Amino acid sequence: MRFGAQALHWSKLVLGLAIGNSRDLSRFGAKEFQKGQNLNSEFPVANLRVLFPALKKSPDFVFFDNAAGAQIPQCVLDAVTSHLVNCNVQRGGPYEKSQQVDAIVAQTRRSVCDLVNAFHPDEIAFGMNATSFMRMVSLGVGQTLGGRPEIVVTDMDHEANVATWLALEKDGARFRWWRMRDNGKLHVGDLVPLLSPATRLVACTVASNAIGSIVDVAEVSKHAHAVGAEVFLDCVHYAPHGVIDVQKFGCDYLVCSGYKVFSPHMGFLWGRHELLKQLPTFREDFIPDEPPGKLEVGTFVYENVAGMDAAVSYLAKLGERVGDNAQLRARLVRAMDAIREYEQVLSLEMLRVLQDAGAEVYGIREQGQLSQRVPTFSFNLRGIPPGRVASELARNNIGVRGGHMYAPRLMQRLGLDPKSGAVRASLAHYNTVEEIRRFGELLRKIAVQG
Ligand SMILES: Cc1ncc(COP(=O)(O)O)c(C=O)c1O
Repeated sequence: MRFGAQALHWSKLVLGLAIGNSRDLSRFGAKEFQKGQNLNSEFPVANLRVLFPALKKSPDFVFFDNAAGAQIPQCVLDAVTSHLVNCNVQRGGPYEKSQQVDAIVAQTRRSVCDLVNAFHPDEIAFGMNATSFMRMVSLGVGQTLGGRPEIVVTDMDHEANVATWLALEKDGARFRWWRMRDNGKLHVGDLVPLLSPATRLVACTVASNAIGSIVDVAEVSKHAHAVGAEVFLDCVHYAPHGVIDVQKFGCDYLVCSGYKVFSPHMGFLWGRHELLKQLPTFREDFIPDEPPGKLEVGTFVYENVAGMDAAVSYLAKLGERVGDNAQLRARLVRAMDAIREYEQVLSLEMLRVLQDAGAEVYGIREQGQLSQRVPTFSFNLRGIPPGRVASELARNNIGVRGGHMYAPRLMQRLGLDPKSGAVRASLAHYNTVEEIRRFGELLRKIAVQG
């Protein structure tokens, strides 16, 4: 996966989401900030922010805990409400309201298919969250280890994508650990010697939910497939920050959580059709052994699936140009490229304020390597417990998190006690340079006061 600098120019985009014509970039302040920098962005953040009721309702609150869940635009709330008002019934009935639910689920399968660049909508399954899909796939893999008992897991991943696989020990699985290097990266060169004809699967993240490092997952797939192994990607943290492309990633399974990508709580799984077809899953006899139904046993939250479809529309609108008749996928790619470009501006400023406050930042810190991370920063202030820093920021209306970020092994790898861990500020595309500066000023005060 390569992330070249994207030369997107927002002046050419339609800003279909904008309210009125006022592109208020003064709130963004990026131009002023970028003097002397290479990044060129006029991202319409002020126009986007007004589309998020939570941001409007709490203008003084800084949402820097997006890795734990993102805010939701009005169009998503409308879709959820509309579903509950107009067709809050079970699927599969002969009457119109029930058929409407079927249609919404089918429509969301198509839009999520475009979001991840799947081969076919039937490769998309909906459910409660990412972890339950990890567990479902891992249970199936555990039953089909055959002569390949080895599973590669990493010490950078969210524990969900580690513990689910470790639980297969009782099925005879053995584990190879792909360790993060001191620079906060998983190097594919370190993975290669772990792979062999005994490798059944490599489970890794696309981006770290704690330190933001991006993994070169296309290279992971290339090497894993060369020995006949499969690749399972946790895309939960990466999803709101960049283009997802299962065809370019070359992976075999990929999971996401809707609530990290501006939708309500739900999760989805993509898998190669032939693999999903073979995967043993629990299902009642009357459920055909075919994807996606075999992965969706029971009822999931239809209104939130409707919300997920609206979240995809929100992103697509962001990538629209004047007079645009581009396909949904093309608009999504433009939107996510633009988000990545803008988020690099945010990352640069975040690194600056963290450095000013004397914080120890874990993972990628080099300005020249911003394209290898998303705007998620774990750090500590010398001698001040992370919980206290997070509480102090909370008292000042800034929402961050202190702890192990559900990645206790990563905390240990960083030399931290997982019980206290680090402070994490995780940004999304609706955050601003001004918010980062406010956060930076407070952090400096906290560091000085000790
Ligand atoms: C990287 C990553 N993987 C997995 C999960 C678990 O996702 P879910 O809550 O949808 O099960 C999270 C949640 O924070 C996450 O950040």
